Amino acid sequence: MNTESDYSAMARTNPVFVTAKTAVCLMAQAEIPDAERIVRSLKIENKEPLQDLSGSTVILGNALVVEAKYRTMCSLIENSGYRTCVDLPCGYTPKALYLTAKGIQFIGLDLPIVVQEMEPVMHSLTAYPERMAFHPVDATNYDSLDAALEKTAGPLCITTEGMMMYFTESELEAVVNNVCTLLEVHGGAWFTPDPEFMIQFFLTFQSLFGEDWMKKLEAAGNAAKKQSDVANLSNSFIIDAADIPGSVKRTEAFLAKFGLKAEKLNLAEYMPELSTYRFLTSEQIVQFKKAMGNCYYWVITLDGARKLRSDTTNKEQPFAMHYTMENGLFRVSLCGRLDSITAPELLLKWEKEKTATNIERAIVDCERLTYISSAGVRVLLTMEEKTKCGVTLIHVSPLVKKFLEQNEKLSFTEICEQ
Ligand SMILES: C[S@@+](CC[C@H](N)C(=O)[O-])C[C@H]1O[C@@H](n2cnc3c(N)ncnc32)[C@H](O)[C@@H]1O
Repeated sequence: MNTESDYSAMARTNPVFVTAKTAVCLMAQAEIPDAERIVRSLKIENKEPLQDLSGSTVILGNALVVEAKYRTMCSLIENSGYRTCVDLPCGYTPKALYLTAKGIQFIGLDLPIVVQEMEPVMHSLTAYPERMAFHPVDATNYDSLDAALEKTAGPLCITTEGMMMYFTESELEAVVNNVCTLLEVHGGAWFTPDPEFMIQFFLTFQSLFGEDWMKKLEAAGNAAKKQSDVANLSNSFIIDAADIPGSVKRTEAFLAKFGLKAEKLNLAEYMPELSTYRFLTSEQIVQFKKAMGNCYYWVITLDGARKLRSDTTNKEQPFAMHYTMENGLFRVSLCGRLDSITAPELLLKWEKEKTATNIERAIVDCERLTYISSAGVRVLLTMEEKTKCGVTLIHVSPLVKKFLEQNEKLSFTEICEQ
């Protein structure tokens, strides 16, 4: 995919990629080495993505969270003893530059729209091109991860910063199952601040902003929801700040279902000094450091007590779509997975037909559809919105129905089961 319309289709199918542009702008604001160079290469030096953050104090709170996460994760990876970092998702951060300069092999995985922009930027900035590689994936799609890591020797330090909160329950299950399989195949550990991201935000804003902290936190949350088009930044992986002990137990039980266990690293113990401190009073710095003592980053590994064996040789059916256009009826049959990688193809085909003819109605045959992610649902909903008599989904299997029902905005004209 190379043209402007391909880029636009990927962007509309996966709006969440914009959150990664916000993150690198915040990193530049926090003066993290190389972040400003990346921002300039991406041509976002006007820091446009930060406009959603409504004001300089909300930006300051976000920059502090992002810098604390980035620098702590870099330090944890560097000191983990692992020689290969698989960053899922890599976004647009300078982590590849930092880690490869320390002799660590870096593999950046993200949605195609991010990787196609990020790879040339990183190759233009690095002194160690042979130590880094980037691959397009959808974290819910095991075959894409397997293909990306085919030639990579383990053990792996898999890192996930700022992704898990954007998933529905079924997407979450797919991603955790995939990471679990990668750990079985390659060995290693999964480092992530994501389970406690909400707590880190709460504690940071509380320690900086006195009485106003809730309002500012709400503004930060609204910006993330708007940019990602996700209504609810929570699922079974994410600890609820209103019930920490209860939800820690729930998340641990969720991980145990996959044969995974978690060790927790106290953020205050591992967090290096931050450049954003120069914008804070000494009292704010003391409060902030103390508050971070109540936040943990999780290191997730296979639980030796339970022997898991997933069959990794069974490849999924490749995506295919066949469509006809007759008397205003767009009839399409889908096969395989409609996910972040494949959904833009459906959007483009449908828009091409719509420009040429008047589409009155659409029928989507789901008989051979094995999986649909939010990206796929987003395309079907666009079709529903822009078609006079709407979209009818036919031959919907119970599994696909379950995926569909997890989408908050579900409103198809008709869903007929198998
Ligand atoms: C908030 S950004 C975080 C990026 C980076 N880790 C950072 O710290 O800046 C969220 C990232 O998740 C990626 N993402 C969302 N859904 C994904 C999926 N299904 N597969 C792979 N990456 C995904 C987005 O493209 C985006 O780069």
